[in-house]
Amino acid sequence: MTHISVKVDGTTYEDDVEPRLLLIHYLRDRLGLTGTPIGCDTSNCGTCTVELDGTAVKSCTVLAVQADGSEVTTVQGLAHDGEWTALQRTFHERHALQCGYCTPGMIMAAADLLARHEGDGPITEEEVRTGLGGNLCRCTGYKKIVKTVLAV
Ligand code: FES
Ligand code: FES
Repeated sequence: MTHISVKVDGTTYEDDVEPRLLLIHYLRDRLGLTGTPIGCDTSNCGTCTVELDGTAVKSCTVLAVQADGSEVTTVQGLAHDGEWTALQRTFHERHALQCGYCTPGMIMAAADLLARHEGDGPITEEEVRTGLGGNLCRCTGYKKIVKTVLAV
């Protein structure tokens, strides 16, 4: 077992974990943060996307021990004082989802994308489509998701 200290959605956790434990399993099974789903477990779908020290990562490709000393934000930690971010609100208002399984990962990837483009002027549709290229959606055809991110 390896001891880790990781801040998740504003709370610091101290835990002993197996070195092979994936971050997604740590978040869901140990911390009970099931707002981040598992889709493929093979780094393809992006539904497990979280922020690790401010950068979007697929948490099924990161070991929990690699998050030691780091700060993780899941979709459950985006809102402040119960207030959704503009991105969350716009996803809801524009209904940029159908089953919603991909939505947490889409929102986390889009948040990272928009943060990286901040100050660069309006983001283009091509940049949004490329930026969300690692996140799969089996329902929507992507159109509403892309339009939502462009609107934000
Ligand atoms: Fe991580 Fe699909 S569950 S990329
Ligand atoms: Fe169903 Fe995207 S809304 S997978």
